Amino acid sequence: MIRPAGPPGSKGNTVFHLARIAALCILIPAIGWTPAPVSYAQNAPAQEELPPEPPLGLDDVPVPDDNPMTRPKVELGRLLYFEKRFSGDGKVSCATCHMPRRGFSNARQYGTGFGGRLTLRNVPTVINAAYNESQFWDGRAASLEEQARGPILHPSEMASSEERIIRTLGAIPEYRERFEAAFGSPRVNLERVVQAIATFERTLLSGNSPFDRWKYGGDQSALSPRAIRGFEVFRTKGNCVKCHLVDEFSAPFTDDKFHNLGIGMDKKPLQLGREAITKKIKDRGKFKTPTLRHITHTAPYMHDGRFNTLAEVVDFYDKGGEQNPNLDPDMKPLKLTKAEKEDLIAFMGALTGDLPEVKTPELPK
Ligand code: HEC
Ligand code: HEC
Repeated sequence: MIRPAGPPGSKGNTVFHLARIAALCILIPAIGWTPAPVSYAQNAPAQEELPPEPPLGLDDVPVPDDNPMTRPKVELGRLLYFEKRFSGDGKVSCATCHMPRRGFSNARQYGTGFGGRLTLRNVPTVINAAYNESQFWDGRAASLEEQARGPILHPSEMASSEERIIRTLGAIPEYRERFEAAFGSPRVNLERVVQAIATFERTLLSGNSPFDRWKYGGDQSALSPRAIRGFEVFRTKGNCVKCHLVDEFSAPFTDDKFHNLGIGMDKKPLQLGREAITKKIKDRGKFKTPTLRHITHTAPYMHDGRFNTLAEVVDFYDKGGEQNPNLDPDMKPLKLTKAEKEDLIAFMGALTGDLPEVKTPELPK
């Protein structure tokens, strides 16, 4: 929180108060005098910079021009992320599947939503999803805002509707006040709900891991010798960096592209992945490269959650993936030794960093 320093009555504070009074004098005539009992806008720390400075190893968070990040919007989004009352049966929220305690995933092969129905795919983490160029395993949503509409309306996730959102949230006075603080008027609608949730998601960043402190922070002792050897395998013999990128100043651990590793090509019906969106046969069986940050917290792995451990994932890559006509040309048998496999796993263990603590909030009554 940045505020002019100094004890009450000192110069800094006086200037600050004068500035506040001046700002109010300009604002009051413009908006009309409507005294509110609590103002959720004024709970925000003064002059706070949003988006915040990204943690070590991450780039600046991209924020769309039509949904600027403000503290009241982050706060509203945080509440809505945990809010079950607007779901079809009043029992499902984003946090039901993307649980903060489970690396913002759910530690299961699939998600369980409305009426106990299972999702068809493994729940990806929302950590660092703010950086994704597209959302979902097949990239069918272009932004976090567009993505959030999916589960809200999906019959086996939250099974809600705009009408339901207006009826449930619109009836709660504190929500109307919070929508006003975030958007300038108390109107509740689907568009605003997804904008607020997406804004909250832009705060869920994991960086400053042991790997980041070693690679970008100049701390030679941050990474164990075993993990350093694992990074060598990751870069060279394992060819993992080809798709899980490590750049000069930051490491997204994804290329935001789609690849066929053969996962789902060994099933009936075939899992078409990206092909279902682009209708191009060359995209058959391709899925989006997920980030590897916080990977120790988000088992099971792959879009169908088939692997429970990182050791199983490494064995899968070692044998060159699952053979099929559209297998990515970068998938080849690696012939890793037992020690190299262990080093690789130790390296992935060093990608778990700081994450903001998110507790279940007390929701408006
Ligand atoms: C019933 C479980 C469930 C609920 C509830 C749910 N999700 Fe998801 N979420 C999933 C699954 C499963 C996927 C992957 C689906 C796919 O790719 O086809 C997913 C994908 C995502 C992604 C894409 C991540 C990526 O890397 O591509 C984001 C972001 C996300 N969800 C956020 C949310 C938000 C925000 C909410 C609440 C509005 C929510 N989810 C509610 C299960 C759920
Ligand atoms: C050709 C691109 C490519 C290469 C090379 C590659 N990956 Fe992946 N990785 C992917 C894609 C795509 C997925 C998701 C596949 C799916 O679910 O169908 C994935 C998934 C993973 C997952 C599971 C993540 C999760 O959240 O479920 C791990 C762990 C992983 N890769 C580690 C590695 C390691 C270690 C290497 C090197 C031995 C490697 N990858 C090489 C593209 C690649």
